[in-house]
Amino acid sequence: MGVQVVDHPLAKALLAALRDRTTPPPLFRLLAKRLALVLCMEATRNVPTAPVEVETPLSRTTGLRLAKPLVAVPVLRAGLGMLEAVTELFPEVTVGYVGLERDHATFEPSLYYSKLPPLDGRTVLLLDPMLATGASAAAACNALERAGAEEITLLSVVSAPEGIAHLQLLHPEVSIVTASIDDGLNHHAYIVPGLGDFGDRLFGTL
Ligand code: URA
Repeated sequence: MGVQVVDHPLAKALLAALRDRTTPPPLFRLLAKRLALVLCMEATRNVPTAPVEVETPLSRTTGLRLAKPLVAVPVLRAGLGMLEAVTELFPEVTVGYVGLERDHATFEPSLYYSKLPPLDGRTVLLLDPMLATGASAAAACNALERAGAEEITLLSVVSAPEGIAHLQLLHPEVSIVTASIDDGLNHHAYIVPGLGDFGDRLFGTL
């Protein structure tokens, strides 16, 4: 599936503030949540709907309801910074968790935790703010598909071209919604210009 870069000016302004190295963790958390709201709106633009009859104070009319349950899966720990946005927009969402560790020498991820609700027949929103090498996102998609996921959209704040290419190679069925495609990775596999370590900036562990 495709890659969609959210070009709303609000998303651009929020991202610029997130990138700013002087943005402290409390503000970073707030901005990350706001940007996740924008990404989530875009990621759910085409979810299936069904008609619903409503009675207004004046007459009956037909509206829409979501026809398929949503599941949000943040990748620990950075993805937690995007979760509240999804639960606020979609209070009925069920939530699973995937924990992946990156080996500092090889950059290869390994799955150390997975707790997932039923995924089949649902729209899965995978929350992983930094699509860097794409290895973690691909490992997360493997875990989700092993657990029955049929339709996955990755919500990422910043993506590297390398990560997009890797994920599209291994999981061409996954859609990506991101606020930016940056220049690329440095030799520590950090995204440039990027915003640094998302988890550290979110939780103040710099
Ligand atoms: N993870 C981060 O938090 N930042 C990067 O730039 C790459 C991976």
